[in-house]
Amino acid sequence: MERGTDVARAAAVLRAGGLVAFPTETVYGLGADASRDDAAAKIFTAKGRPRGHPLIVHLPVDARLDDWAIDIPETARRLVAAAWPGPLTIILRRGPRVASATTGGAPTVGLRVPAHPMAQALLATFGGGIAAPSANRFGAVSPTSADHVVVDLGDAVDYVLDGGSCAVGVESTIVDLSRAQPALLRPGGMPREAIEAIVGPLAAADADAPAAPGTLASHYAPRAEVIAVEPAQVPAQVAAAAGKRVGVLAPASAFAAWGDLHALAWPLPDDLAGMARELYRALRDLDAAGVDVVIAALPPSIGLGEAVGDRLRRAAGPRGNDR
Ligand code: TXA
Ligand code: MG
Repeated sequence: MERGTDVARAAAVLRAGGLVAFPTETVYGLGADASRDDAAAKIFTAKGRPRGHPLIVHLPVDARLDDWAIDIPETARRLVAAAWPGPLTIILRRGPRVASATTGGAPTVGLRVPAHPMAQALLATFGGGIAAPSANRFGAVSPTSADHVVVDLGDAVDYVLDGGSCAVGVESTIVDLSRAQPALLRPGGMPREAIEAIVGPLAAADADAPAAPGTLASHYAPRAEVIAVEPAQVPAQVAAAAGKRVGVLAPASAFAAWGDLHALAWPLPDDLAGMARELYRALRDLDAAGVDVVIAALPPSIGLGEAVGDRLRRAAGPRGNDR
């Protein structure tokens, strides 16, 4: 594994069919040439991810959507004109340049143009699409710094592009536009309200929606047990966890009202964007601090609060053996 800021070197690794971890504005991605089955296959091995779970294809700003998708509805063109580059992934029917392994054989593909300048430089230099899931081991918390990637994947990656900490901090919002009614498959870095202002109301994912394994209950989980509750319930939950090493994850202003909780206080910024930006780092740091339980205060479900609440609930969800 090499680590640095050499975009030309990273693009050369991709051209040779290798794996490059790179920063995006949401989280770090683990990238490979999206048009090559052999390259995309390496991602599944490195992550320990089941091969049927489709990868998002990242595109340069000047990519032609029609190379990467077919049957593109007018709503998709309108939405990406407003949202890209940015933290939005759209699901469309798969186009000719997408390798079958990239979508796990699915007839649909997730597409996104990331806003991080280093991601854009890599995509422009490489010239094609980069298939990339988050650069963590399957089921774990997504990486928001190059250090996180190295800890999780180490020598499974050929090159780690270091672009500092991610500004958004939660994954992209995923909207399915492959069927008649636009549907929200995963809340994320682009708030629902901003998307609905462009395409109208978003349906919830139903049984016929394209499978989005990121919605498995045990995803996004740290090692510690997570209990996600309304802020008013936090003191009672801390009391109920007596005898365990407890970390409390909540907006900084909440701690003043609670007084001494006899737990490790882990304040997050009070604004929703700051909360999203710091969430995954905080969960990793709480693991490193050795807590048994994280008691997390749920934010209001508006703006980025919907994504933060979603990730906290998933981290608190039942743990399968698919972490
Ligand atoms: O912000 C992000 O989206 C980050 C950065 C690296 O771009 N990527 C990311 O990838 O979160 P990943 O693989 O960890 O999550 C992608 C989600 C998965 O839940 C996957 O199932 C879903 O996108 N997905 C990808 N292609 C899909 C498709 N064709 N149909 C349904 N879901 C799809
Ligand atoms: Mg992921």
